[in-house]
Amino acid sequence: MAYKILKKKRLAPGLYDFLIEHTTIPLYARPGQFLIIRIDERGERIPITIAGVQENSVRIIVKCVGKSTYKLAMMKEGEHVLDVVGPLGNPSEIDCYGRVCVIGGGVGIAPLLPITKALKGASNHITAILGAATAEFLILEEEFRELSDELIITTDDGTIGKKGLVTHRLEELLNAGERFDRIWAIGPTVMMKFVSAIATRQEIPCWVSLNPIMVDGTGMCGACRVEIDGNMKFACVDGPEFDGRFVNWNELIKRQHQYKEQEKAALELFKKEAGDLSWL
Ligand SMILES: Cc1cc2nc3c(=O)[nH]c(=O)nc-3n(C[C@H](O)[C@H](O)[C@H](O)COP(=O)(O)OP(=O)(O)OC[C@H]3O[C@@H](n4cnc5c(N)ncnc54)[C@H](O)[C@@H]3O)c2cc1C
Ligand code: FES
Repeated sequence: MAYKILKKKRLAPGLYDFLIEHTTIPLYARPGQFLIIRIDERGERIPITIAGVQENSVRIIVKCVGKSTYKLAMMKEGEHVLDVVGPLGNPSEIDCYGRVCVIGGGVGIAPLLPITKALKGASNHITAILGAATAEFLILEEEFRELSDELIITTDDGTIGKKGLVTHRLEELLNAGERFDRIWAIGPTVMMKFVSAIATRQEIPCWVSLNPIMVDGTGMCGACRVEIDGNMKFACVDGPEFDGRFVNWNELIKRQHQYKEQEKAALELFKKEAGDLSWL
């Protein structure tokens, strides 16, 4: 069965917001869960977090990094993707914790949105720190402004918000005496690793959403193996969220890079066929 792209919007260079028609996923999806999408019969299975749901559709926000995500970004409203499987993975553990700091980096801001909505709905005080490379790449600022009690923006070059990394802002807040009961951090693996190091020092539970290579998304292939507190877990069925203080980050980073050469070759071949992709 094919699923129609109802809406597509460019949020930033290489970053696209999609609404994909689906009748059952919106009934069951909860914050923190993800989908596996296949564009066509020869397509890879792409895990993408659910950024929101409407009555008849699911929202995803996708960053172009390789062949499959470029192909998805090139699709138009009205076209169909072949498979959309989900909701997969465990929902985020939402409760009234008190003061929560949510930290999003790059496209990681997207999966953080439904979690932040749910945390706000559970009466938490929300401090949001959103980071991007430059102003151009910052997404969902307005949606977070509505949900947050305090919103801090950072960019690598200072084109919007404060110049520097999200971890600098987190340390600044903690040094100024701010106390958080929980942290949620979603973004590049190194960002989650360094937020988790701060959380370890401060003894704050810190949820991160891991994105190892996934294939089946159902716990059977073993591709998404991660080490948590010395135990082997599968991110697709035991996660994708874990307390970052207990993640073996170095192993995760090593496993994420294991197909680098093949991915690079696939993208170069695709670029030769597809031509100039700089308009994305
Ligand atoms: C649970 C989960 C949720 C995710 N949510 C989002 C999201 O909301 N938005 C978004 O833009 N991206 C998300 N990703 C990452 C996305 O799945 C990858 O960017 C995509 O699969 C890359 O495929 P590609 O063919 O374009 O690139 P490739 O050239 O194949 O790979 C580029 C990089 O993407 C990563 N990657 C590749 N294949 C996979 C795979 N099967 N599973 C996981 N990572 C992979 C690797 O780090 C790789 O180095 C998520 C990943 C996981 C595991
Ligand atoms: S993706 Fe296959 S076990 Fe998790």
